Amino acid sequence: MLKICVCVSGGGTNLQAIIDAIESGKITNTQIVRVISNNKGAYALERATDKGINAVAVSPKDYEDRESFNKAFLACVDEVAPDLVVLAGFLVVLPPMMIQKYTGRIINIHPSLIPSFCGKGYYGLKVHEAVLARGVKVTGATVHYVDEGTDTGPILLQKAVEVLPDDTPKALQQRVMEQAEWQILPQAINMIANT
Ligand code: GAR
Repeated sequence: MLKICVCVSGGGTNLQAIIDAIESGKITNTQIVRVISNNKGAYALERATDKGINAVAVSPKDYEDRESFNKAFLACVDEVAPDLVVLAGFLVVLPPMMIQKYTGRIINIHPSLIPSFCGKGYYGLKVHEAVLARGVKVTGATVHYVDEGTDTGPILLQKAVEVLPDDTPKALQQRVMEQAEWQILPQAINMIANT
C-alpha cells in the first residue's frame, strides 16, 4: 500500500481527482495519509476532512522566519512517513532539506507542457496568461519528479490540450485541468503504486 501525503494551497480540484480515483478504483494500492496546506483557508482542507482524511495547515505566517517554517513543514510530513509526497497545486517552494530527504519520492503537477511556460513565476493562472500571450496552439500539463530546481525534475507523464481562438486564461485553465491534470496526476500515482 503506497502511503501518500498530498500538499495543497488552494481549491484542491487535483486533490479531489485523486480522492475520486481512489474511490472509483482508477488508483489502487494507495492511501492518502495526510493533506497539508500552507494556507489555513484552503478549500482543499475541507475536501479532505469531508472524506475523513487527516488534514493539517502549516502556515508560514505562524513562524518567525522561513527556517522555522521549513522545519515545521518537514516535521509534519515526516510524522506520517509517506512513501510519496504529491504536490497538487502547492505554491510554496519546498524546503531544500525536504527535497534531499525525499529524493525520487516527490511528484508535482504543472499546468503546461514542460519545458514551456515553467520555472520561476509560472504558476496557476499566470501560466495560462503566458500561453495565450505567446499564441501557442497547444498546451497541456506535466507530472514530474521534484528536484532542487523549479519544474526541472524528470518528467513522468504529459498530456496535450488544444488552445482555442476565443480562450480566456480561466477557460483555458479549466480545460487543461479537465482534459489533462485530473487525468495524468491520478494516472502517475497509480503507476508508482503498482510498479
Ligand atoms: C493547478 O492548475 C496546478 O497545476 C497548479 O495550480 C493549480 C491548483 O489547482 N500548480 C502550479 O501552477 C504549480 N506550479 P487545484 O488547487 O484546484 O488543484
